[in-house]
Amino acid sequence: MESVITLVIGFVSIITILKLYFPRRTSSSTIPVVPGIPLIGNLLQLKDKIPHQIFASWAEIYGPIYSIKAGASTIVVLNSTDVVKEAIVTQFSSIPKRNRTYAMIKLANNIMITSDSNEYHKMARRHVVTSMLGAGALRRHRAHRDTMMNNIVGRLQAHAKENPLKPVNFRLIFQTEIFGLALKQALGTDVGPSKYIEGLGETLTRDEIFKVLVLDPLSGGIKVEWRDFFPYLRWVPNESYEMHIGRIEKQRLEVMKTLIEEQQKRIFTGEGINCYLDWLMSEGKTLTNTQMSMLIWETIAAGSATTLQTVEWAMHELAKHLKYQDDLYREIKKICGNNKYTEEQFSEITYLSAVFHETLRKYPALPVGSPRYVHEDTQLGGYDIPAGTQIIINFYGCNMNKKQWDSPEKWKPERFLDSKHDPKDLYKTMSFGGGKRVCPGALQGLSITCTAIARCIQEFKWNLELGTVEEDITPKLSPSLAIITPRENSEGGECTL
Ligand code: HEM
Repeated sequence: MESVITLVIGFVSIITILKLYFPRRTSSSTIPVVPGIPLIGNLLQLKDKIPHQIFASWAEIYGPIYSIKAGASTIVVLNSTDVVKEAIVTQFSSIPKRNRTYAMIKLANNIMITSDSNEYHKMARRHVVTSMLGAGALRRHRAHRDTMMNNIVGRLQAHAKENPLKPVNFRLIFQTEIFGLALKQALGTDVGPSKYIEGLGETLTRDEIFKVLVLDPLSGGIKVEWRDFFPYLRWVPNESYEMHIGRIEKQRLEVMKTLIEEQQKRIFTGEGINCYLDWLMSEGKTLTNTQMSMLIWETIAAGSATTLQTVEWAMHELAKHLKYQDDLYREIKKICGNNKYTEEQFSEITYLSAVFHETLRKYPALPVGSPRYVHEDTQLGGYDIPAGTQIIINFYGCNMNKKQWDSPEKWKPERFLDSKHDPKDLYKTMSFGGGKRVCPGALQGLSITCTAIARCIQEFKWNLELGTVEEDITPKLSPSLAIITPRENSEGGECTL
């Protein structure tokens, strides 16, 4: 008996000594830190720079996950697919909150993309998927997309006939059409050439309405100011900035009010249209007027800008690389013959899918995700991340990671013809985000982008205008200009705007 007791005491002592001298590693190694200067941290290094590009260049030095300091905030930046998947899938429950800047609070409140993952977000997502962006809803909105494509081709045809030697500004044509589609899906109708906005006391043209609803809020919403990094100084006024953001907010609010009230009159007379507003009026009865207006506005802005940028970049690269353009044209011709490309043919044309994914990889429409906030201690990439840390997901950085992509700076669609890529995988790059907050408009983005590319290449040969400004950033600052030449058998389309 004594020997058993001695054995047990000996065993317990060994375990205790082992625990004392070799404690279990609960904490991982320290996360790499980008050196900055006291008080302001890395803010000066970021000033006047394009954030996603500088974040990606830091990833080459400090690795795919590192920490920066922006004033009083510690921000962890993620630049590789693996570590981003960890944050948005595996550790999602620890990072369910969004971090909002002053501009976001003013311009992007009550919308999905900046909302915390809560009941409101869940409800809004269910509404938009069921009524507008899910597979069934997309089928119901098909006629709008077909009209849009015929209009685009019709306008290009008219340009090529009237000005065969003059370069076409594709952005202007596509922007008009995608905005019209977004309005029809959201509100049931386009706006026409101009509209009187009562709350502003003036008439705005259609282009001005596009600026008020899409361009201004998107460029204003991503702006940051010094008070965002020093929350304890929020009380210090910054009048010119607040007035600038306030003006954008007021104009957007008044235009949305006019457009929604006009359609509500229609709905009250009993005339229904298959659109998001009609759906929310009947199924979203718990929503306030502001919430409804913001959710509808979100689809107009997000739907127009992202798809526009993706299609423009794809056409720019194809007009620049004639070999890729010829390869794509040949494949479309093989599958479609002399008939117009239709959405159903997408899965048969692997080269089209490769062009789409390579464009999204190199030019993600949202290069950086909406900032997140860690609400309980967690681990990412093997590092401890304490509660209170902000997380920035650099989608661009993931797509530029040299360990994952060979020569990532080159636009090479053939990389997606490789057998290691599943042809049915919509998320080959991180460009639609991922996990529970993945882009709900991905399927629509794919359908519109690929149909626009296929129809434009089927009907015309594109040559980039000499001297077109080269840029490597999204959003593209200057529009691409190209000379278009109708191909044999090009029928064009009827413009029905
Ligand atoms: C090529 C087209 C598109 C691209 C590349 C794209 C990209 C993205 C990305 C990366 C996110 C995630 C952002 C984050 O995690 O912070 C996102 C979210 C979102 N997108 Fe898209 N998008 C596209 C088209 C669309 C369209 C057509 C719509 C609607 C009409 C849309 C509506 C949204 C919404 C509402 C969210 C927020 C989802 C949530 O937070 O649950 N997107 N998109």
